[in-house]
Amino acid sequence: MANETIAILGGTGDLGTGLAIRWSRAGHRIIIGSRTLEKAQAAVAALAEISPDTPAEAMANADAAAAGDIVVLTVPFAHQISTLETVKPHLAGKILIDVTVPLMPPKVGTVQLPAEGCAAKRAQDFLGDEVHVVSAFQNIAADLLQDPTLAIECDVLVAGNSKDARQRVIDLAAEAGMNGWHAGPIANSAAAEALTSILIQINRQGVLSHSGIKIVGQDAH
Ligand SMILES: NC(=O)c1ccc[n+]([C@@H]2O[C@H](COP(=O)([O-])OP(=O)(O)OC[C@H]3O[C@@H](n4cnc5c(N)ncnc54)[C@H](OP(=O)(O)O)[C@@H]3O)[C@@H](O)[C@H]2O)c1
Repeated sequence: MANETIAILGGTGDLGTGLAIRWSRAGHRIIIGSRTLEKAQAAVAALAEISPDTPAEAMANADAAAAGDIVVLTVPFAHQISTLETVKPHLAGKILIDVTVPLMPPKVGTVQLPAEGCAAKRAQDFLGDEVHVVSAFQNIAADLLQDPTLAIECDVLVAGNSKDARQRVIDLAAEAGMNGWHAGPIANSAAAEALTSILIQINRQGVLSHSGIKIVGQDAH
């Protein structure tokens, strides 16, 4: 589904930059959101240096959320809800892709899910049913996304209460070069969020870098 406007909140950061590069190459209009317009403008300029094929626009987070057909939240867990507070009125009826992993430094290799069950469920509870929160990309390393020539072997678990919304995000994962899988309701994001700490532990052993997961099975047809 080309030519959607995708607003990436905190798109000045590592993961947001990677998604911006991949989705702009797929033909989408990308808006980089930030707490300040100046920082978003600097990120857009940096993006143009790294990836001249990536025309992006800079906006403050609230303006970006208002302009986006699809909004993506790419900020650290500690700032997930405070960022959503600033954009909530602009999200009704839209898909919010939440990539948040509830890592709590310094023990990022230990699974520490929040009381709500997982970060994405916390976002859905906060935003209410009029926003289609879809969780994805928790197990994809930002620097893999930032090199669009790299084939990413890791699959994407996509959780959300609306099957149609999940399918749109699975399509977006494909456009960014990854296989996405229906992972069920938003509460199931707990599995993807928890897996990130496991992958961090695997990477620490020094055998693999950027470890990921792949869903395998027999062809059901
Ligand atoms: N990095 C990865 O490889 C990776 C992989 C999978 C999932 N994730 C998840 O993706 C999310 C973003 O990760 P990241 O590595 O891209 O993070 P990051 O680079 O550390 O930060 C992303 C952006 O968050 C915003 N931010 C920072 N402090 C903030 C605050 N106090 N209040 C509001 N916004 C603040 C900043 O944007 P402005 O200053 O421009 O507002 C920053 O550029 C996290 O939840 C992480 O768990 C990351």
